[in-house]
Amino acid sequence: MSSLPPDTPEQALITQYKGSKLVVVAYAGTGKTTTLIKYARANPTKRMLYLAYNRAIRDEAAEKFPANVECKTSHQLAYASIGKRYAHKLVPGLSLPTIKAAISCSMKLAREISDTLNAFTADAIDRFMPHHVNGFGTKAELTPEWREFAGEVMLNLPHQSGRQEAIL
Ligand SMILES: Nc1ncnc2c1ncn2[C@@H]1O[C@H](COP(=O)(O)OP(=O)(O)OP(=O)(O)O)[C@@H](O)[C@H]1O
Ligand SMILES: [Mg+2]
Repeated sequence: MSSLPPDTPEQALITQYKGSKLVVVAYAGTGKTTTLIKYARANPTKRMLYLAYNRAIRDEAAEKFPANVECKTSHQLAYASIGKRYAHKLVPGLSLPTIKAAISCSMKLAREISDTLNAFTADAIDRFMPHHVNGFGTKAELTPEWREFAGEVMLNLPHQSGRQEAIL
């Protein structure tokens, strides 16, 4: 276990804290991670969860924190309890050039398709719906090219009806 510098008075208030709820707000580079590592070391029987914004931070934290701390990204945590139910909707790495090349369309249309897929993926509903096409109603106007393409797609889906074409 690597040695850490002695606590400042501010850090000592945190590392020696024995209550159940503690919120610490601190600026960048002020010793947040160091303080949390020391808090975790001082409370080895407590199981802790460290949530990181991205994998790089998670990986770095996993090397620094003791074994009583589980390090995860917030996406990882959400996926384990909720996201895996929607695993069938997830398509890794579908970039605009991939869409463009797959169906020989304009970049503009590829973007509309990508936005639509993202809306569908983010929605709890398991059917493709008109509100996925128009950004949950936020897009004022659909381009004629996109209107035609999306309408055709909706008509060709086995569970869709003509009513949805009318909404488009
Ligand atoms: N009490 C201390 N005495 C001396 N140096 C310290 C002390 N606490 C932390 N440091 C040093 O300050 C630097 C920043 O610490 P740390 O990485 O913990 O900050 P942080 O707030 O987590 O930073 P970031 O915002 O980049 O995540 C490190 O080099 C660390 O070793
Ligand atoms: Mg940090």
